[in-house]
Amino acid sequence: MSTNVLLIGSGGREHALAAKLAQSPELGTFFAAPGNPGIAQHARCVDVDPADHAAVLAFCRAERIGLVVVGPEVPLVAGLADALEAGGILVFGPSQAAAALEGSKGFTKELCARMHIPTAAFRRFDALDPALAYVRAEGAPIVVKADGLAAGKGVTVAATLDEAEEALRACFAEPGAEVVVEECMTGPEASFFCLCDGVRAVPFGTAEDHKRAYDGDAGPNTGGMGAYSPSTLMTPDVIRQVMAEIVEPTLKGMAEAGTPFKGVLYAGLMLTDTGPRLIEYNVRFGDPECQVLMMRLESDLLPILRAAAAGDLSRVTPRWRDDPAVTVVMASKGYPGSYRKGTTIASLPETGPQEAIFHAGTGLSDGRLVAEGGRVLNVTATGSSVAEAADRAYALVHAVDWPEGFYRTDIAHRAR
Ligand code: AMP
Ligand code: GLY
Repeated sequence: MSTNVLLIGSGGREHALAAKLAQSPELGTFFAAPGNPGIAQHARCVDVDPADHAAVLAFCRAERIGLVVVGPEVPLVAGLADALEAGGILVFGPSQAAAALEGSKGFTKELCARMHIPTAAFRRFDALDPALAYVRAEGAPIVVKADGLAAGKGVTVAATLDEAEEALRACFAEPGAEVVVEECMTGPEASFFCLCDGVRAVPFGTAEDHKRAYDGDAGPNTGGMGAYSPSTLMTPDVIRQVMAEIVEPTLKGMAEAGTPFKGVLYAGLMLTDTGPRLIEYNVRFGDPECQVLMMRLESDLLPILRAAAAGDLSRVTPRWRDDPAVTVVMASKGYPGSYRKGTTIASLPETGPQEAIFHAGTGLSDGRLVAEGGRVLNVTATGSSVAEAADRAYALVHAVDWPEGFYRTDIAHRAR
């Protein structure tokens, strides 16, 4: 049985998913919308706008698509999965209502309160004055979050009251803003992924991300400058505790509310002195965490995603390679601030069997490979240790001929 697949997205996460799906003996015709030059090595990139649900559905019908895999959160929060499922197409990814776990921080905090899930204490506000009064009463450090999707930029961990007040004023400068104010937790962070079929959750790998732009965790927050898998913090005991105290109550609460969660649930965790606590949920794979997970996944990805989409993960037990994986993000100089677009990537090195260079923000201009986004390449390798994987990834980074790129030199330092 072969399945025609449409992959939605255009980043490094989607290139990693595409490379893995392309290895499946069950794959029929493979399309990506919109894709990128790296994804084009594996799939036919088509000019179908993921925001135009009717156009995506018509494409799926015309091409007999058996599974749509949605990479990013924006189409999920916009209800793409609902529109396709209403048209009879199988989709890996949650409904719009279930995507609120990422789309609304307030929604997730209410669920945590209802299900007694360990997370930071919080209050929701829809007006500036009561929010100001609350942070003044609580004092710093304190965390201010805009409620909706903010591409990683909606969070201020305020060390002082002045910073917290400034963040609140900035949030409420937007009309109709909603804000969550949280207790500031401390501890190391890890990313934990689970495949979900609405009822069951199957652990699907761990990773650690590097969110700050520069070496030594300095500089502004980014979408992620590198990652490694597995996380050294997520021991089997911690995973069991997180499943029992965080993930399973979440799936139960979502099902009870009539909004069962299907797809990949990405828990951002803080390992505090009093145990693991939820920082936030995302309803998609992490980027660049997906890149290291896909390098380590031994099982065929396609039947696993199809089983989750079809609502039955009861027979799925993913297998992993023991070797750790490391990915180093190469970004345009200036990212996450303003940067030049269209700079030439003169050449990329050949990659061996334990290596991959995933395209995140590349494009083609007159046949030349150019950088079009902030995060541009994800240089990835596995090895018998984290140190070996990192050394291999950095050797590849040094062989990339792109003078306008920069990268952190200390990815995976925590685990070396
Ligand atoms: P988020 O976008 O919610 O993942 O937040 C971005 C980063 O802000 C997280 O990775 C944490 O480092 C930090 N953060 C978010 N919430 C808290 C909190 N309640 N206490 C401490 N740090 C936090
Ligand atoms: N790497 C963080 C994220 O995907 O949200």
